[in-house]
Amino acid sequence: MCIRDSVSDTGADTRTVHVDLGARSYDILVGGGLVARAGQEIAARLPGIRAAIVTDANVAPLHLDRLSAALDEAGIGHVPIVLPAGETTKSFDHLMQLVDALLGARLERGDAVIALGGGVIGDLSGFAAGIVRRGMRFVQLPTSLLAQVDSSVGGKTGINSPRGKNLIGVFHQPALVLADTDILSTLSRREFAAGYAEVVKYGLIDRPDFFEWLEANHAAIFAGGPARVEAVARCCEAKAAVVADDEREDGNRALLNLGHTFGHALESAVRYDPERLVHGEGVAIGMALAHRFSHRLGLIDGQDVTRVERHLQAVGLPTRIDAIPGPALDVDTLMDRIAQDKKVSRGQLTFILTRGIGQSFIAQDVVPDDVLSLIHISEPTRR
Ligand code: GLY
Repeated sequence: MCIRDSVSDTGADTRTVHVDLGARSYDILVGGGLVARAGQEIAARLPGIRAAIVTDANVAPLHLDRLSAALDEAGIGHVPIVLPAGETTKSFDHLMQLVDALLGARLERGDAVIALGGGVIGDLSGFAAGIVRRGMRFVQLPTSLLAQVDSSVGGKTGINSPRGKNLIGVFHQPALVLADTDILSTLSRREFAAGYAEVVKYGLIDRPDFFEWLEANHAAIFAGGPARVEAVARCCEAKAAVVADDEREDGNRALLNLGHTFGHALESAVRYDPERLVHGEGVAIGMALAHRFSHRLGLIDGQDVTRVERHLQAVGLPTRIDAIPGPALDVDTLMDRIAQDKKVSRGQLTFILTRGIGQSFIAQDVVPDDVLSLIHISEPTRR
């Protein structure tokens, strides 16, 4: 994996992060103006292709015309496929609809599925690309911060089952990721902050210097400009390193789940109601809990817990279950959901804990009752 800089035709700085996976290696381009340049960047790497642009009803009015014009300019024939927005689109029904549209458009294996959207569109489109004609080419144009720094990189694709999130899918790496940081200006502050939780995650896993840099630069990242490009590129660099080392999550890739066991349980407990909680907010609460839990186990200083909570709160992210609006969540039900998690084996949970800021590790022997008592102690109103 390497990172290099270039200056685009529009004059905006573009950073290139290379994901080193042998024959499945690819570039992630990070910078402003990439939607307008998408046709030329795609044509340079995938000459002669046709494509489907898969997007959702929220993103289409904002960006589809510009992407379509950029593909026209580069002579890439394409069809748009617009799906409903929201987590429920990651379903068998929509997968079938998408697969049928790709086949109906007579796209071939060498052609590309271009995902223009957030994590839902990226995961669903990647899965369809992975199974149609035994694997079409796949390009990601992530439109949320969360998708730019996490879900668009690394080849995890899939849909949800009524039995849980992301339980059906394949690993299918993209051929190219274009992370246009200008696009992020269309996000609400809340959506941006939710994605920022995943940015903080990379600092907390194993990059203490990055965490310190975020503490000093978060306002500039939220404002846009070079600090935002820098933050997204450094996250992609961190993720590319993890994925190159452990593509199929046999080992350290699991560190990327820091905060996610709690986060997923909380999302499920509010029935994925985005008014109450979105994914990144669940991850923020989960990361704070993982640090409080590590402190309770005597692994880290209270000062580190305070530092993490302060930073999350500084950008408006929640750090406590109590902060979730609406009816109180029942902690026992929450624990039940955690105990059902796919990371449970023989009654013990695999959990990401930490020995300090940027010193996370995979603990395979966490006892669910200890987690329950932590929540009871640190969230007394939830007894
Ligand atoms: N989002 C976690 C991973 O890609 O492994």
